[in-house]
Amino acid sequence: MMLDTFSRPLKDLRISVTDRCNFRCLYCMPKEVFGPDYVYLARGEMLTYEEITRFTRLLVNLGITKVRITGGEPLLRKDINHLIEMLALIPELDLTLTTNGALLTNEKSVALKAAGLKRITISLDSLNYDIFASLNDVEFSVDKVINGINNAASAGLNPIKINMVVMRSVNLSSVVPMAQYFRESGHILRFIEYMDVGDSNGWRLDEVVPSSEIVELIGAQLPVEPIAPNYPGEVASRWRYTDGSGEIGLISSVSQPFCGDCSRLRLSARGELFTCLFASSGYDVRSLLRSNASDETIVDAVASLWRSRDDRYSELRSKQSQQVSRVEMSYIGG
Ligand code: GTP
Ligand code: 5AD
Ligand code: SF4
Ligand code: SF4
Repeated sequence: MMLDTFSRPLKDLRISVTDRCNFRCLYCMPKEVFGPDYVYLARGEMLTYEEITRFTRLLVNLGITKVRITGGEPLLRKDINHLIEMLALIPELDLTLTTNGALLTNEKSVALKAAGLKRITISLDSLNYDIFASLNDVEFSVDKVINGINNAASAGLNPIKINMVVMRSVNLSSVVPMAQYFRESGHILRFIEYMDVGDSNGWRLDEVVPSSEIVELIGAQLPVEPIAPNYPGEVASRWRYTDGSGEIGLISSVSQPFCGDCSRLRLSARGELFTCLFASSGYDVRSLLRSNASDETIVDAVASLWRSRDDRYSELRSKQSQQVSRVEMSYIGG
């Protein structure tokens, strides 16, 4: 097994397939920064599906067992099903995708399942129309995302996880209604602490709602108890409703950082590797892929990158200077 400087294995590859999105979530792509003049990656700059697939196969030899397709919004990339088909041919991969659900029509969901996608995670931050519209900042309606969730469930992309980022001044009031709504659905709702990723979301600590507060808020209405992780290093800590009506997850990257177990490597749409969500720069693997480098050369490059990895940004957050420029979440995926 290949370990980094803190003895963490590489297990998980997150692939961003586009830096574009049809939403402008306040916590991710605020309009003031991602406006009409913002320059996105050009098609030729992005890795092709063949390049992504070759790279993923090589990483399976280095121990990865899970691949998550992200963006931006991954369903905006043309023929994304084709990439899923190619990746699904790699044996024994947990193959999943994170989407905002806007483009999850019935046909799309069925096609994703047929292509070999195993399960799906859909972001939804509120059931309240006004709050959701102010968060996605493109007037997108709750109903359409709920339709997307239902389409994915009917297509068999289960278990479905719902990601909700909580900002104190915006959607704290949506926490309990969301818990009530998803409680008996079989979907797993996860509450995510608002993070200081990138340079553009104007993050403030007082907007972060610690997971302990969420558990208290929900527990006062619907009793919950902690349950064991599914696997070591699981990002979300799990809780179940004591009446057996389902489970929720808490992702506490600010109040209880989980760098100690972090086994994730991120590949940008442009073909850079990031060993941390909070990195300032990536390792250019696209040049290798486009220079006829042998499989062995590429594997060696990734192995040495991983072996020298010492990232633990979330654990050091409070001690860190905020001066360094950091990559945006929409660029390397959530
Ligand atoms: P599964 O267990 O496979 O379903 O995936 P997951 O729990 O890793 O969930 P997902 O990939 O949907 O991640 C959910 C959210 O957790 C992301 O959108 C981020 O907000 C946060 N997150 C995931 N990975 C990291 C990480 O390495 N560091 C930090 N700080 N946050 C992360
Ligand atoms: N803090 C926490 N999570 C974030 N995401 C994007 N920006 C942030 C942030 N600032 C995550 C959300 C969303 C996924 C695509 O990215 O989980 O569901
Ligand atoms: Fe788009 Fe997801 Fe970022 Fe929202 S969180 S702007 S849906 S990439
Ligand atoms: Fe991993 Fe970096 Fe997140 Fe820590 S802050 S869990 S090292 S991605």
